[in-house]
Amino acid sequence: MTEAAPEANPQRSPAFRGLVASVIDGAPVSGGRTVPSTNPARLDEMVGEVSFGDAATFLRAAESAKKAQESWAAIPAPIRGRAIAKIGRLVEDNAEALARLVTAEIGKPYGEALGEVREIIDTCDFFLGEGRRLYGQTVPSEMPDKQLFTFRRPVGTVAVITAGNFPVAVPSWYIVPALLAGNTVVWKPAEYSAASSAAFHELFVRGGGLPDGVFNVVHADGAATFSGLEQSLDAGVVDKVGFTGSSAVGREIGGLTGRYVQTACLELGGKNPLIVTPSADLDLAVEGALFSGFGTAGQRCTSLGTVIVHESVHDQFLSRFNTALANARVGDPTQDVLMGPLMDAKFADRFEEFLGWIQPHQTVQAAYGKITADNPRVGFIGDPSDGLYYHPVLVDGVRPGDRIFMEETFGPIVGVTSYQSLNEAIDLANAPGYGLSSSIYTTNPKDAFTFRDKISAGMVSINNSTSGAEAHLPFGGNGKSGNGSRQSGIWVLDQFTRWQAVNWDYSGRLQKAQMDIVELTPDTTFRL
Ligand code: UN1
Repeated sequence: MTEAAPEANPQRSPAFRGLVASVIDGAPVSGGRTVPSTNPARLDEMVGEVSFGDAATFLRAAESAKKAQESWAAIPAPIRGRAIAKIGRLVEDNAEALARLVTAEIGKPYGEALGEVREIIDTCDFFLGEGRRLYGQTVPSEMPDKQLFTFRRPVGTVAVITAGNFPVAVPSWYIVPALLAGNTVVWKPAEYSAASSAAFHELFVRGGGLPDGVFNVVHADGAATFSGLEQSLDAGVVDKVGFTGSSAVGREIGGLTGRYVQTACLELGGKNPLIVTPSADLDLAVEGALFSGFGTAGQRCTSLGTVIVHESVHDQFLSRFNTALANARVGDPTQDVLMGPLMDAKFADRFEEFLGWIQPHQTVQAAYGKITADNPRVGFIGDPSDGLYYHPVLVDGVRPGDRIFMEETFGPIVGVTSYQSLNEAIDLANAPGYGLSSSIYTTNPKDAFTFRDKISAGMVSINNSTSGAEAHLPFGGNGKSGNGSRQSGIWVLDQFTRWQAVNWDYSGRLQKAQMDIVELTPDTTFRL
Protein backbone atom coordinates (compact mmCIF):
# COMPACT_ATOMS: atom_id res chain seq x y z
CA MET A 1 0.00 0.00 0.00
CA THR A 2 1.16 3.51 -0.70
CA GLU A 3 1.73 5.64 2.36
CA ALA A 4 -0.28 8.83 2.02
CA ALA A 5 -1.40 9.68 5.51
CA PRO A 6 0.31 12.80 6.75
CA GLU A 7 2.81 12.43 9.52
CA ALA A 8 1.79 12.91 13.12
CA ASN A 9 2.18 16.68 12.86
CA PRO A 10 1.47 17.50 9.28
CA GLN A 11 2.51 20.94 8.18
CA ARG A 12 -0.09 23.28 6.84
CA SER A 13 0.24 23.96 3.16
CA PRO A 14 0.44 27.67 2.24
CA ALA A 15 -2.91 26.94 0.56
CA PHE A 16 -4.36 25.49 3.83
CA ARG A 17 -8.10 26.11 4.07
CA GLY A 18 -8.74 24.96 7.63
CA LEU A 19 -11.80 22.90 8.51
CA VAL A 20 -13.78 22.00 5.41
CA ALA A 21 -17.37 21.35 6.42
CA SER A 22 -20.58 20.55 4.58
CA VAL A 23 -22.77 23.61 4.02
CA ILE A 24 -26.52 23.15 4.29
CA ASP A 25 -28.98 26.00 4.04
CA GLY A 26 -26.10 28.48 4.27
CA ALA A 27 -24.67 27.08 7.52
CA PRO A 28 -21.59 24.92 8.03
CA VAL A 29 -22.31 21.45 9.35
CA SER A 30 -19.47 19.53 10.95
CA GLY A 31 -19.06 17.11 13.77
CA GLY A 32 -18.44 13.76 12.12
CA ARG A 33 -15.19 12.05 11.29
CA THR A 34 -12.42 14.48 10.28
CA VAL A 35 -9.94 13.44 7.60
CA PRO A 36 -6.98 15.47 6.34
CA SER A 37 -6.72 16.33 2.67
CA THR A 38 -3.05 16.08 1.81
CA ASN A 39 -0.87 17.49 -0.93
CA PRO A 40 0.11 14.52 -3.14
CA ALA A 41 3.31 16.33 -4.11
CA ARG A 42 4.22 16.84 -0.43
CA LEU A 43 2.64 14.18 1.67
CA ASP A 44 3.61 15.90 4.91
CA GLU A 45 1.48 18.90 3.93
CA MET A 46 -2.17 19.26 4.73
CA VAL A 47 -4.43 21.39 2.50
CA GLY A 48 -7.55 21.09 4.64
CA GLU A 49 -9.24 19.03 7.32
CA VAL A 50 -12.46 17.58 5.99
CA SER A 51 -15.39 16.92 8.26
CA PHE A 52 -17.38 14.03 6.83
CA GLY A 53 -21.14 13.90 7.02
CA ASP A 54 -23.30 10.78 6.79
CA ALA A 55 -26.35 9.73 4.80
CA ALA A 56 -28.57 11.91 6.99
CA THR A 57 -26.39 14.93 6.17
CA PHE A 58 -26.95 14.29 2.48
CA LEU A 59 -30.70 13.94 2.98
CA ARG A 60 -30.84 17.18 4.97
CA ALA A 61 -28.95 18.99 2.22
CA ALA A 62 -31.37 17.68 -0.40
CA GLU A 63 -34.33 18.74 1.75
CA SER A 64 -32.85 22.20 2.05
CA ALA A 65 -32.36 22.40 -1.72
CA LYS A 66 -35.95 21.28 -2.23
CA LYS A 67 -37.22 23.96 0.12
CA ALA A 68 -35.25 26.69 -1.68
CA GLN A 69 -36.11 25.64 -5.22
CA GLU A 70 -39.45 27.32 -5.79
CA SER A 71 -38.28 30.79 -4.84
CA TRP A 72 -35.00 30.34 -6.78
CA ALA A 73 -36.97 29.39 -9.89
CA ALA A 74 -39.21 32.43 -9.33
CA ILE A 75 -36.23 34.76 -9.82
CA PRO A 76 -36.37 35.77 -13.50
CA ALA A 77 -33.92 33.82 -15.64
CA PRO A 78 -32.08 36.97 -16.82
CA ILE A 79 -31.38 37.82 -13.17
CA ARG A 80 -30.10 34.29 -12.56
CA GLY A 81 -27.95 34.83 -15.65
CA ARG A 82 -26.51 37.96 -14.07
CA ALA A 83 -25.68 35.94 -10.96
CA ILE A 84 -23.78 33.50 -13.19
CA ALA A 85 -21.98 36.45 -14.81
CA LYS A 86 -20.86 37.73 -11.41
CA ILE A 87 -19.72 34.27 -10.33
CA GLY A 88 -17.58 34.12 -13.47
CA ARG A 89 -16.01 37.50 -12.70
CA LEU A 90 -15.27 36.57 -9.09
CA VAL A 91 -13.69 33.29 -10.21
CA GLU A 92 -11.59 35.24 -12.72
CA ASP A 93 -10.46 37.65 -10.02
CA ASN A 94 -9.44 34.68 -7.86
CA ALA A 95 -8.10 32.50 -10.67
CA GLU A 96 -4.49 32.25 -9.48
CA ALA A 97 -5.41 31.49 -5.87
CA LEU A 98 -7.91 28.84 -6.93
CA ALA A 99 -5.43 27.27 -9.36
CA ARG A 100 -2.74 27.22 -6.66
CA LEU A 101 -5.16 25.42 -4.36
CA VAL A 102 -6.00 22.84 -7.04
CA THR A 103 -2.28 22.25 -7.62
CA ALA A 104 -1.66 21.90 -3.90
CA GLU A 105 -4.54 19.50 -3.36
CA ILE A 106 -4.41 17.14 -6.35
CA GLY A 107 -0.96 17.80 -7.81
CA LYS A 108 -2.20 19.06 -11.17
CA PRO A 109 0.56 21.14 -12.79
CA TYR A 110 -0.14 24.83 -12.20
CA GLY A 111 -0.46 25.69 -15.91
CA GLU A 112 -3.14 23.04 -16.31
CA ALA A 113 -4.84 24.12 -13.09
CA LEU A 114 -5.10 27.67 -14.45
CA GLY A 115 -6.63 26.20 -17.62
CA GLU A 116 -9.10 24.31 -15.47
CA VAL A 117 -10.15 27.52 -13.71
CA ARG A 118 -10.48 29.14 -17.15
CA GLU A 119 -13.00 26.40 -17.99
CA ILE A 120 -15.27 27.61 -15.15
CA ILE A 121 -15.06 31.16 -16.48
CA ASP A 122 -15.81 29.97 -20.03
CA THR A 123 -18.82 28.05 -18.73
CA CYS A 124 -20.11 31.12 -16.88
CA ASP A 125 -19.51 33.27 -19.99
CA PHE A 126 -21.56 30.87 -22.05
CA PHE A 127 -24.48 30.60 -19.64
CA LEU A 128 -24.76 34.20 -18.51
CA GLY A 129 -26.46 34.98 -21.84
CA GLU A 130 -28.61 31.87 -21.67
CA GLY A 131 -30.50 33.61 -18.87
CA ARG A 132 -31.87 35.95 -21.54
CA ARG A 133 -32.65 33.10 -23.92
CA LEU A 134 -33.82 29.80 -22.40
CA TYR A 135 -35.92 29.83 -25.52
CA GLY A 136 -39.18 28.04 -25.95
CA GLN A 137 -41.09 27.89 -29.23
CA THR A 138 -44.42 28.98 -30.62
CA VAL A 139 -45.77 26.20 -32.79
CA PRO A 140 -48.73 26.35 -35.24
CA SER A 141 -51.76 24.32 -34.30
CA GLU A 142 -53.64 22.09 -36.74
CA MET A 143 -56.82 23.90 -35.68
CA PRO A 144 -57.92 27.53 -35.89
CA ASP A 145 -58.01 29.82 -32.88
CA LYS A 146 -55.56 27.66 -31.03
CA GLN A 147 -51.88 28.23 -30.31
CA LEU A 148 -49.12 25.83 -29.20
CA PHE A 149 -46.02 26.69 -27.15
CA THR A 150 -43.06 25.00 -25.51
CA PHE A 151 -41.44 26.14 -22.28
CA ARG A 152 -38.31 24.93 -20.53
CA ARG A 153 -38.96 24.22 -16.87
CA PRO A 154 -36.32 23.47 -14.25
CA VAL A 155 -36.16 19.83 -13.22
CA GLY A 156 -36.09 20.74 -9.51
CA THR A 157 -33.36 19.62 -7.14
CA VAL A 158 -30.14 18.38 -8.66
CA ALA A 159 -27.61 16.14 -6.86
CA VAL A 160 -24.15 16.48 -8.38
CA ILE A 161 -21.45 13.93 -7.52
CA THR A 162 -18.05 14.63 -9.02
CA ALA A 163 -14.53 13.22 -9.22
CA GLY A 164 -11.48 15.17 -8.12
CA ASN A 165 -9.37 15.11 -11.29
CA PHE A 166 -11.15 18.24 -12.44
CA PRO A 167 -12.18 19.39 -8.98
CA VAL A 168 -13.56 22.75 -10.10
CA ALA A 169 -14.11 22.73 -13.90
CA VAL A 170 -16.28 19.63 -14.17
CA PRO A 171 -18.52 20.65 -11.24
CA SER A 172 -19.11 23.97 -12.99
CA TRP A 173 -20.38 22.09 -16.06
CA TYR A 174 -23.25 20.80 -13.92
CA ILE A 175 -23.76 23.52 -11.37
CA VAL A 176 -23.72 26.58 -13.66
CA PRO A 177 -26.45 25.39 -16.06
CA ALA A 178 -28.42 23.76 -13.24
CA LEU A 179 -28.61 27.03 -11.30
CA LEU A 180 -29.18 29.12 -14.40
CA ALA A 181 -32.16 26.98 -15.34
CA GLY A 182 -33.77 27.47 -11.92
CA ASN A 183 -32.70 24.29 -10.14
CA THR A 184 -31.17 24.10 -6.70
CA VAL A 185 -28.16 21.92 -6.01
CA VAL A 186 -26.62 19.44 -3.57
CA TRP A 187 -23.01 18.82 -4.48
CA LYS A 188 -20.90 15.94 -3.22
CA PRO A 189 -17.31 16.58 -4.33
CA ALA A 190 -14.51 14.02 -4.19
CA GLU A 191 -13.07 13.45 -0.71
CA TYR A 192 -9.51 14.11 -1.89
CA SER A 193 -10.36 17.50 -3.44
CA ALA A 194 -12.56 18.83 -0.65
CA ALA A 195 -10.56 22.00 0.02
CA SER A 196 -10.73 23.06 -3.64
CA SER A 197 -14.46 22.38 -3.60
CA ALA A 198 -14.88 24.53 -0.49
CA ALA A 199 -13.19 27.42 -2.30
CA PHE A 200 -15.38 26.85 -5.36
CA HIS A 201 -18.50 26.80 -3.21
CA GLU A 202 -17.57 30.02 -1.47
CA LEU A 203 -16.82 31.79 -4.76
CA PHE A 204 -20.19 30.70 -6.15
CA VAL A 205 -22.26 31.63 -3.12
CA ARG A 206 -20.53 34.98 -2.63
CA GLY A 207 -20.14 35.84 -6.31
CA GLY A 208 -23.72 34.97 -7.19
CA GLY A 209 -25.28 36.27 -3.97
CA LEU A 210 -27.02 32.89 -3.85
CA PRO A 211 -29.78 32.59 -1.23
CA ASP A 212 -29.36 29.95 1.48
CA GLY A 213 -30.24 26.45 0.37
CA VAL A 214 -29.78 27.14 -3.34
CA PHE A 215 -26.32 25.56 -3.44
CA ASN A 216 -25.50 23.05 -0.70
CA VAL A 217 -22.34 21.01 -0.41
CA VAL A 218 -21.93 17.71 1.40
CA HIS A 219 -18.67 15.98 2.23
CA ALA A 220 -19.14 12.27 2.67
CA ASP A 221 -17.60 8.97 1.68
CA GLY A 222 -18.99 6.87 -1.16
CA ALA A 223 -21.16 4.59 0.99
CA ALA A 224 -22.78 7.45 2.92
CA THR A 225 -23.36 9.34 -0.33
CA PHE A 226 -25.03 6.39 -2.00
CA SER A 227 -27.30 5.73 0.91
CA GLY A 228 -28.04 9.48 1.35
CA LEU A 229 -28.89 9.67 -2.33
CA GLU A 230 -31.17 6.66 -2.08
CA GLN A 231 -32.96 8.17 0.91
CA SER A 232 -33.29 11.50 -0.90
CA LEU A 233 -34.71 9.87 -4.01
CA ASP A 234 -37.10 7.95 -1.83
CA ALA A 235 -38.18 11.12 -0.06
CA GLY A 236 -38.71 12.82 -3.42
CA VAL A 237 -36.20 15.59 -2.71
CA VAL A 238 -33.77 14.80 -5.57
CA ASP A 239 -35.12 15.12 -9.09
CA LYS A 240 -31.96 14.71 -11.12
CA VAL A 241 -28.52 13.23 -10.54
CA GLY A 242 -25.33 14.26 -12.30
CA PHE A 243 -22.36 11.96 -11.83
CA THR A 244 -18.79 12.07 -13.11
CA GLY A 245 -16.61 9.12 -12.16
CA SER A 246 -15.90 5.49 -12.91
CA SER A 247 -18.06 3.34 -15.16
CA ALA A 248 -18.57 0.89 -12.27
CA VAL A 249 -20.04 3.50 -9.93
CA GLY A 250 -21.93 5.08 -12.85
CA ARG A 251 -23.66 1.77 -13.42
CA GLU A 252 -24.75 1.72 -9.74
CA ILE A 253 -26.02 5.30 -9.90
CA GLY A 254 -27.81 4.62 -13.18
CA GLY A 255 -29.47 1.56 -11.62
CA LEU A 256 -30.50 3.48 -8.51
CA THR A 257 -31.97 6.44 -10.38
CA GLY A 258 -33.69 4.09 -12.84
CA ARG A 259 -35.64 2.61 -9.94
CA TYR A 260 -37.00 6.10 -9.29
CA VAL A 261 -37.85 6.61 -12.98
CA GLN A 262 -35.01 9.08 -13.40
CA THR A 263 -32.22 9.24 -15.93
CA ALA A 264 -28.94 10.37 -14.43
CA CYS A 265 -26.49 12.50 -16.39
CA LEU A 266 -23.50 10.13 -16.41
CA GLU A 267 -20.00 11.10 -17.46
CA LEU A 268 -17.87 7.99 -16.99
CA GLY A 269 -14.55 6.46 -17.90
CA GLY A 270 -12.82 6.14 -21.22
CA LYS A 271 -10.28 4.03 -23.07
CA ASN A 272 -9.62 6.70 -25.61
CA PRO A 273 -7.90 5.64 -28.82
CA LEU A 274 -5.57 7.68 -31.00
CA ILE A 275 -4.98 6.40 -34.53
CA VAL A 276 -1.83 7.32 -36.40
CA THR A 277 -2.25 6.78 -40.14
CA PRO A 278 0.60 6.51 -42.66
CA SER A 279 -0.11 10.05 -43.88
CA ALA A 280 0.07 11.58 -40.39
CA ASP A 281 2.46 14.32 -39.36
CA LEU A 282 4.30 12.07 -36.88
CA ASP A 283 5.74 14.86 -34.76
CA LEU A 284 2.31 16.38 -34.33
CA ALA A 285 0.93 12.96 -33.40
CA VAL A 286 3.70 12.46 -30.83
CA GLU A 287 2.97 15.86 -29.30
CA GLY A 288 -0.73 15.01 -29.05
CA ALA A 289 -0.08 11.56 -27.63
CA LEU A 290 2.33 12.95 -25.04
CA PHE A 291 -0.10 15.58 -23.80
CA SER A 292 -3.18 13.38 -23.75
CA GLY A 293 -1.34 10.35 -22.38
CA PHE A 294 0.59 12.01 -19.59
CA GLY A 295 -0.89 15.46 -18.97
CA THR A 296 -2.77 15.43 -15.63
CA ALA A 297 -0.64 12.28 -15.08
CA GLY A 298 -3.08 10.44 -17.35
CA GLN A 299 -5.92 11.03 -14.92
CA ARG A 300 -8.44 12.63 -17.25
CA CYS A 301 -11.48 10.79 -18.45
CA THR A 302 -10.30 11.98 -21.85
CA SER A 303 -6.73 10.72 -21.37
CA LEU A 304 -5.21 8.67 -24.14
CA GLY A 305 -5.57 4.90 -23.63
CA THR A 306 -4.10 3.22 -26.68
CA VAL A 307 -2.20 4.49 -29.71
CA ILE A 308 -3.19 2.47 -32.78
CA VAL A 309 -0.45 3.11 -35.28
CA HIS A 310 -0.11 1.90 -38.86
CA GLU A 311 2.53 -0.83 -39.11
CA SER A 312 4.47 1.16 -41.74
CA VAL A 313 5.13 4.02 -39.28
CA HIS A 314 5.01 2.06 -36.02
CA ASP A 315 8.73 1.94 -35.32
CA GLN A 316 9.33 5.55 -36.24
CA PHE A 317 6.39 6.75 -34.19
CA LEU A 318 7.36 4.64 -31.17
CA SER A 319 10.93 5.81 -31.18
CA ARG A 320 9.93 9.48 -31.43
CA PHE A 321 7.26 9.03 -28.73
CA ASN A 322 9.83 7.37 -26.49
CA THR A 323 12.31 10.18 -26.95
CA ALA A 324 9.66 12.81 -26.28
CA LEU A 325 8.59 10.98 -23.12
CA ALA A 326 12.16 10.60 -21.90
CA ASN A 327 12.69 14.34 -22.37
CA ALA A 328 9.42 15.38 -20.75
CA ARG A 329 9.60 17.26 -17.49
CA VAL A 330 8.18 15.30 -14.58
CA GLY A 331 8.04 16.44 -10.97
CA ASP A 332 6.97 19.35 -8.78
CA PRO A 333 3.58 20.50 -10.14
CA THR A 334 4.16 24.11 -9.13
CA GLN A 335 6.89 24.14 -11.82
CA ASP A 336 6.51 23.92 -15.57
CA VAL A 337 6.12 20.12 -15.87
CA LEU A 338 4.18 17.76 -18.12
CA MET A 339 3.14 15.70 -15.14
CA GLY A 340 3.24 15.84 -11.38
CA PRO A 341 2.21 13.22 -8.83
CA LEU A 342 -0.86 11.02 -8.83
CA MET A 343 -3.77 12.72 -7.09
CA ASP A 344 -4.16 10.58 -4.03
CA ALA A 345 -2.98 7.34 -2.44
CA LYS A 346 -6.00 5.45 -3.75
CA PHE A 347 -5.01 6.30 -7.32
CA ALA A 348 -1.39 5.37 -6.66
CA ASP A 349 -2.48 2.02 -5.26
CA ARG A 350 -4.71 1.39 -8.23
CA PHE A 351 -1.98 2.45 -10.64
CA GLU A 352 0.34 -0.15 -9.13
CA GLU A 353 -2.36 -2.70 -9.83
CA PHE A 354 -2.56 -1.59 -13.47
CA LEU A 355 1.20 -1.98 -13.77
CA GLY A 356 0.67 -5.58 -12.66
CA TRP A 357 -1.40 -6.12 -15.80
CA ILE A 358 1.67 -5.76 -18.03
CA GLN A 359 2.22 -9.06 -19.88
CA PRO A 360 5.38 -10.78 -21.13
CA HIS A 361 4.32 -10.30 -24.77
CA GLN A 362 4.26 -6.52 -24.24
CA THR A 363 7.33 -4.33 -24.21
CA VAL A 364 7.71 -1.63 -21.60
CA GLN A 365 9.79 1.14 -23.02
CA ALA A 366 11.65 2.32 -19.90
CA ALA A 367 11.74 2.16 -16.11
CA TYR A 368 8.37 1.97 -14.44
CA GLY A 369 6.80 2.04 -11.00
CA LYS A 370 7.35 4.55 -8.25
CA ILE A 371 10.11 7.09 -8.84
CA THR A 372 12.64 6.63 -6.05
CA ALA A 373 16.37 7.03 -5.48
CA ASP A 374 16.78 3.40 -6.57
CA ASN A 375 14.38 3.73 -9.50
CA PRO A 376 15.21 7.27 -10.57
CA ARG A 377 13.93 9.38 -13.41
CA VAL A 378 16.54 11.44 -15.19
CA GLY A 379 15.79 15.16 -14.90
CA PHE A 380 13.13 14.80 -12.18
CA ILE A 381 12.15 18.23 -10.88
CA GLY A 382 12.24 18.20 -7.08
CA ASP A 383 12.56 15.28 -4.66
CA PRO A 384 10.46 12.26 -5.70
CA SER A 385 10.28 10.96 -2.13
CA ASP A 386 8.11 13.97 -1.21
CA GLY A 387 5.08 12.70 -3.08
CA LEU A 388 3.19 10.13 -5.12
CA TYR A 389 5.43 10.23 -8.17
CA TYR A 390 5.36 7.48 -10.79
CA HIS A 391 7.26 6.89 -13.99
CA PRO A 392 5.21 7.56 -17.09
CA VAL A 393 4.89 4.23 -18.90
CA LEU A 394 4.68 3.36 -22.55
CA VAL A 395 3.75 -0.27 -23.31
CA ASP A 396 4.14 -1.51 -26.87
CA GLY A 397 2.53 -4.67 -28.24
CA VAL A 398 -0.79 -4.50 -26.45
CA ARG A 399 -3.61 -6.38 -28.15
CA PRO A 400 -7.33 -7.03 -27.77
CA GLY A 401 -7.93 -9.25 -24.80
CA ASP A 402 -5.14 -7.65 -22.75
CA ARG A 403 -6.50 -5.84 -19.72
CA ILE A 404 -4.31 -2.84 -20.55
CA PHE A 405 -5.98 -2.71 -23.95
CA MET A 406 -9.55 -3.27 -22.78
CA GLU A 407 -9.88 -1.40 -19.49
CA GLU A 408 -9.44 2.17 -18.37
CA THR A 409 -6.08 2.54 -16.64
CA PHE A 410 -6.44 5.90 -14.93
CA GLY A 411 -2.84 7.08 -14.64
CA PRO A 412 0.32 7.67 -16.69
CA ILE A 413 0.29 4.57 -18.86
CA VAL A 414 -0.27 4.39 -22.62
CA GLY A 415 -0.50 1.25 -24.74
CA VAL A 416 0.63 1.00 -28.35
CA THR A 417 -0.59 -1.44 -30.97
CA SER A 418 -0.34 -1.58 -34.75
CA TYR A 419 -2.75 -2.10 -37.62
CA GLN A 420 -2.84 -2.76 -41.36
CA SER A 421 -6.14 -1.35 -42.66
CA LEU A 422 -8.15 1.62 -41.42
CA ASN A 423 -11.20 -0.56 -40.81
CA GLU A 424 -9.08 -2.78 -38.57
CA ALA A 425 -7.82 0.32 -36.72
CA ILE A 426 -11.37 1.53 -36.12
CA ASP A 427 -12.44 -1.92 -34.91
CA LEU A 428 -9.52 -1.87 -32.48
CA ALA A 429 -10.51 1.64 -31.36
CA ASN A 430 -14.09 0.53 -30.67
CA ALA A 431 -13.19 -2.85 -29.14
CA PRO A 432 -12.97 -1.84 -25.45
CA GLY A 433 -16.62 -0.73 -25.51
CA TYR A 434 -16.14 2.72 -24.02
CA GLY A 435 -16.88 5.68 -26.27
CA LEU A 436 -15.87 9.00 -24.78
CA SER A 437 -13.10 10.64 -26.78
CA SER A 438 -11.07 9.56 -29.80
CA SER A 439 -8.50 10.92 -32.19
CA ILE A 440 -7.02 10.35 -35.61
CA TYR A 441 -3.89 11.86 -37.09
CA THR A 442 -4.08 11.94 -40.86
CA THR A 443 -3.72 14.27 -43.82
CA ASN A 444 -6.21 12.21 -45.83
CA PRO A 445 -9.77 13.60 -45.65
CA LYS A 446 -11.28 10.24 -46.56
CA ASP A 447 -9.60 8.60 -43.55
CA ALA A 448 -10.77 11.41 -41.30
CA PHE A 449 -14.40 11.13 -42.40
CA THR A 450 -14.43 7.33 -42.37
CA PHE A 451 -13.15 7.48 -38.80
CA ARG A 452 -15.75 10.07 -37.81
CA ASP A 453 -18.47 7.90 -39.29
CA LYS A 454 -17.47 4.61 -37.68
CA ILE A 455 -15.95 5.49 -34.32
CA SER A 456 -18.29 4.93 -31.40
CA ALA A 457 -17.00 7.89 -29.36
CA GLY A 458 -19.04 10.95 -28.51
CA MET A 459 -16.05 13.17 -29.19
CA VAL A 460 -13.74 12.98 -32.18
CA SER A 461 -10.48 14.87 -32.70
CA ILE A 462 -8.77 15.13 -36.07
CA ASN A 463 -5.11 16.05 -35.78
CA ASN A 464 -5.63 16.93 -32.13
CA SER A 465 -5.22 14.91 -28.96
CA THR A 466 -8.02 13.05 -27.16
CA SER A 467 -8.16 15.58 -24.33
CA GLY A 468 -8.80 19.28 -24.15
CA ALA A 469 -12.43 19.57 -25.22
CA GLU A 470 -13.67 23.15 -25.42
CA ALA A 471 -16.29 24.10 -22.86
CA HIS A 472 -19.13 24.87 -25.29
CA LEU A 473 -19.33 21.69 -27.38
CA PRO A 474 -21.36 18.67 -26.24
CA PHE A 475 -19.21 16.63 -23.87
CA GLY A 476 -20.09 13.02 -23.19
CA GLY A 477 -19.80 9.45 -24.27
CA ASN A 478 -21.46 6.26 -25.34
CA GLY A 479 -21.18 2.64 -24.25
CA LYS A 480 -19.32 2.27 -20.96
CA SER A 481 -18.53 6.02 -21.04
CA GLY A 482 -22.07 7.22 -20.48
CA ASN A 483 -25.76 6.84 -21.12
CA GLY A 484 -25.97 9.37 -23.93
CA SER A 485 -26.28 12.48 -21.79
CA ARG A 486 -24.26 15.45 -22.92
CA GLN A 487 -22.82 18.27 -20.91
CA SER A 488 -21.76 21.77 -21.94
CA GLY A 489 -23.13 24.29 -24.39
CA ILE A 490 -26.84 24.36 -25.15
CA TRP A 491 -26.98 20.57 -25.07
CA VAL A 492 -26.71 20.32 -21.29
CA LEU A 493 -29.93 22.31 -20.92
CA ASP A 494 -31.80 19.13 -21.80
CA GLN A 495 -30.37 17.62 -18.61
CA PHE A 496 -31.49 20.41 -16.31
CA THR A 497 -34.78 21.42 -17.86
CA ARG A 498 -37.88 19.56 -18.96
CA TRP A 499 -39.88 20.57 -21.96
CA GLN A 500 -43.42 21.61 -21.17
CA ALA A 501 -45.84 21.59 -24.11
CA VAL A 502 -48.73 24.06 -23.83
CA ASN A 503 -51.77 24.34 -26.05
CA TRP A 504 -54.17 27.25 -25.71
CA ASP A 505 -57.53 27.04 -27.43
CA TYR A 506 -59.34 30.35 -27.62
CA SER A 507 -62.06 29.21 -30.07
CA GLY A 508 -64.61 28.81 -27.31
CA ARG A 509 -65.43 25.24 -28.33
CA LEU A 510 -63.84 21.83 -27.86
CA GLN A 511 -61.71 21.21 -30.94
CA LYS A 512 -60.45 17.63 -30.96
CA ALA A 513 -56.95 17.09 -32.30
CA GLN A 514 -56.68 14.72 -35.27
CA MET A 515 -60.48 14.65 -35.51
CA ASP A 516 -61.90 18.16 -35.92
CA ILE A 517 -59.54 19.21 -38.66
CA VAL A 518 -60.22 20.83 -42.01
CA GLU A 519 -59.12 18.78 -45.01
CA LEU A 520 -58.36 20.45 -48.35
CA THR A 521 -59.42 18.47 -51.39
CA PRO A 522 -56.58 17.76 -53.83
CA ASP A 523 -57.17 16.86 -57.49
CA THR A 524 -55.15 13.63 -57.51
CA THR A 525 -56.17 12.70 -61.06
CA PHE A 526 -54.60 15.77 -62.64
CA ARG A 527 -51.80 15.06 -65.19
CA LEU A 528 -49.85 17.45 -67.41
C1 UN1 B 1 -12.60 14.88 -17.21
O1 UN1 B 1 -11.51 14.33 -17.20
O2 UN1 B 1 -13.55 14.44 -16.49
O3 UN1 B 1 -11.51 17.59 -22.38
C2 UN1 B 1 -12.91 16.10 -17.97
C3 UN1 B 1 -10.76 17.62 -21.40
C4 UN1 B 1 -11.10 18.55 -20.28
C5 UN1 B 1 -12.12 17.95 -19.38
C6 UN1 B 1 -11.85 16.57 -18.91
N1 UN1 B 1 -11.57 19.79 -20.84
O4 UN1 B 1 -9.75 16.93 -21.32
